[in-house]
Parts: sequence; structure tokens; C-alpha cells
Amino acid sequence: MAGLSLPQKAIPPKYFYDAAGSRLFERICRLPEYYVTRAELSLTRLHIAAIARFAGRGCELVEYGSGESMKTRLLIRALRPAAYLPVDISAAALQQAAKQLAQDFPWLKIVPVLGDFSRPIELPAPRAARHASRAGRVVYFPGSTIGNLDPEEAHAFLAMTRDQAGRMLVGVDLKKDANVLHAAYNDSRGVTAAFNLNILARINRELGGDFDLRRFAHYAFYNAPLGRIEMHLVSLARQRVRVAGHRFGFERGESIHTENSYKYSAEGFRALAAAAGYTGKRLWTDRKGLFALHGLTAV
Ligand SMILES: C[S@@+](CC[C@H](N)C(=O)[O-])C[C@H]1O[C@@H](n2cnc3c(N)ncnc32)[C@H](O)[C@@H]1O
Repeated sequence: MAGLSLPQKAIPPKYFYDAAGSRLFERICRLPEYYVTRAELSLTRLHIAAIARFAGRGCELVEYGSGESMKTRLLIRALRPAAYLPVDISAAALQQAAKQLAQDFPWLKIVPVLGDFSRPIELPAPRAARHASRAGRVVYFPGSTIGNLDPEEAHAFLAMTRDQAGRMLVGVDLKKDANVLHAAYNDSRGVTAAFNLNILARINRELGGDFDLRRFAHYAFYNAPLGRIEMHLVSLARQRVRVAGHRFGFERGESIHTENSYKYSAEGFRALAAAAGYTGKRLWTDRKGLFALHGLTAV
């Protein structure tokens, strides 16, 4: 309600992820234009030995925004963590991933945490006394989900994790040719458009909204001065919409801002992490230099 009442209407991207939204995001990860997942997977495979040395075998691995825990499988094999704590806002994705991982890694202690990382999260107590200090825990935050936070939110998130773990592995999308970015967020099969529009379908399902999805269109572009992809839903007509008993008017061409995806240079991200109390110790990239995995240690 607050977001739809702003002069620039906005809905936080965390609301994308109901069961349907999580499934659509998994399809995005497999699109030919969406280089993000392939680049991060390939750099993780390429540097897995060094990544494992940095994180430390036998640690407790906490993953924020774990989704389907796809890249994590490489880490689980290499680290043999004492426990794996996936944290996600999507109950459906969390349950499905935990079930699949339990089948594939029967020796692994899995502690799923349903939660919203935009607020302080209390993690379950460590499994073993030797992990009781934050040094025994490692936070993993792949997928460039940190790019969905604005710099102030990213600072608050990093400051929270700094008190929970001694080290952090964070996947960050690098600045690059705007045409490559544009294609990644405007795929030819329309899956990103369906993902974006699903937020309106979700409002209709859960808040008794009456959005007509045919009267809104997906729009994504690279805002170069701000270094971010912006995703919007643009009203194709002058219209009024009702949500949970409230009415909202739209002019033709007016948009709801649904997501940002910030792109960082390696130095730019290290400066953000330093301000939150981390030292950038390691940096791994894929062969094409599309994506970066930062190894940070808490100061
Ligand atoms: C961009 S996807 C990345 C998924 C996966 N980590 C990957 O690398 O492909 C973002 C993930 O974070 C979760 N998420 C988004 N906002 C969240 C929040 N505020 N709290 C907890 N999880 C959140 C979503 O449900 C989704 O699984």
C-alpha cells in the first residue's frame, strides 16, 4: 500500500517470490540471455579449490536468498560443511531445495530458515561448540541478489552478516556493455516479463486485487548514471485498480518500479564492503570477466 501510494509507484522485489515467482526465477537462470547464473557457476567450478580454502572445510554454511541452492552444491561437495542453513523468503523454494539436497547429500545437516533478510535475522544456534564463535560460520550470498538492494540496504545487510560470520562469499554482477545487460533482462521468450507481471497476479491472489495483467507491460533498461538495471511495469492505459479495498489511479505510461539490479566494479564493491566492516581478501571472476565472487573477512 505504501509503495503504490508513492509518486513513483514501487513494490519491493522480495514480493516476487511466491511459489510461482520462484519457479519463474529458476527458468530465468536457464535462459540463453541470462549470463549471470552460467558465469557464476563457471567461475565457482574454475576456482572451487581456492574458494574452499578461503571458506574452510567443516564450517557452518549460511546462505541468504538460497532459492534452489544450485551453485551451493559445488560448495557443499568441496567444503563438507558441518551444517547448511539456507535462508529464504520463499517457503516453496526453501522446502523443495531442502528436500532435494537431503536426498543428494544424506550426510548433510540442513537447517532451513524461512525469513526476510531485509530485517535483522536471528539464526539458529550453531550445531557444535567449535562453531559457537562467528569465525566458524561462513555466509554465502550468490546470484547477485545483493544488487537488488540499494546501497544503503546493502550496507545494512553486510553489517548484519558481519556480526554473524567471520567470512563471506558474495556473488556480484560486474559493470559491462549495456546491450548485454539489456538482453539479459529482456529475454526473447518473455520469461522475465512473466516473472515481473507475476507480482500483480500475486497481489490479485493474496490481496484481492483486480489488476488486469493485459494492461501492464514489462519494461527494463540500464540506468547508466546509477549503475543499475531498473525493472518496471508500465500501465498501457489510464486506469484504476483496487487492492485490498484501496483504489490506485494510473496514467497511461505510468509505471510501478519493481526491481533494481545494481552492477558494481570490483573496486566499487570492495569500498561498499569496507564501509560495512569487511576486508576484500579474494576476488574470483569467470573467464569472460562477466561476474565476480568476492571473499570478504570481517575486520
Ligand atoms: C535473485 S534470486 C537468487 C537465487 C539464488 N541464490 C541464485 O543464485 O540463483 C533471489 C533469492 O533471494 C530470495 N529473497 C529475495 N528477497 C529476500 C528477502 N528479503 N529475504 C529472504 N530471501 C529473499 C528469493 O526468494 C530468491 O530465492
